[in-house]
Amino acid sequence: MAEAAKPVRTSQTTITELMIPSYANFGGKIHGGILLSLMDKVAYACSSKHAGAYCVTVSVDRVEFLKPVEVGELVSLHASVNYVGRSSMIVGIRVEAEHVKNSTIRHTNSCYFTMVAKDDHDKPAEVPKLILETHDDVRRFIEALHMKEIKNKIKDEMNDAKSTIHVNDALEMLKTERCIIAFKEKE
Ligand SMILES: CC(C)(COP(=O)(O)OP(=O)(O)OC[C@H]1O[C@@H](n2cnc3c(N)ncnc32)[C@H](O)[C@@H]1OP(=O)(O)O)[C@@H](O)C(=O)NCCC(=O)NCCS
Repeated sequence: MAEAAKPVRTSQTTITELMIPSYANFGGKIHGGILLSLMDKVAYACSSKHAGAYCVTVSVDRVEFLKPVEVGELVSLHASVNYVGRSSMIVGIRVEAEHVKNSTIRHTNSCYFTMVAKDDHDKPAEVPKLILETHDDVRRFIEALHMKEIKNKIKDEMNDAKSTIHVNDALEMLKTERCIIAFKEKE
């Protein structure tokens, strides 16, 4: 049986790692996959601490690599449980890159991982409620709730869009796109 409730601060987790040359891509910047792996690790640690159970990653949102990370920077990933459902948790991750020589810190991106706690039979397990102790805790919980609702709506719309596509009817629409239709339309 899960503990009744836990404050956000008790599961907040930071992972810091030095970006070494073997993490670089052909352009000399850090591979997105290296950063994704670190995000997944910190989301796992943070959610498992809150749940007191083994957790799995279900979904990843808002991962964008708009500001490249350089070799030699010290990357810190700060994770916090923003929202809990019954067995799911939305973990917010703030990624910062520190230039070790001059100690300047850049915020490179923020993203959101949905994690689910599992019981010993591999079934989703109930997690403790979240105790919101600060204004920021409340703001993040509400934001996560809104984002979850928006995501569910988009998911439904995407499923509808997929099921209603008729290729022959949509060919006209593709005339303004950067593609060439290289087959004959069926009668
Ligand atoms: C995640 C998983 C446990 C869901 O199992 P399920 O049988 O669909 O269970 P449920 O329908 O009860 O969903 C459990 C929770 O996951 C949430 N969930 C399921 N699919 C989701 C999705 N696509 N996005 C966000 N949350 C999702 C549900 O809302 C529910 O949350 P709640 O308990 O807080 O209400 C199952 O899909 C799984 O084990 N996936 C593999 C995870 C994994 O191996 N990850 C490693 C990375 S590849």
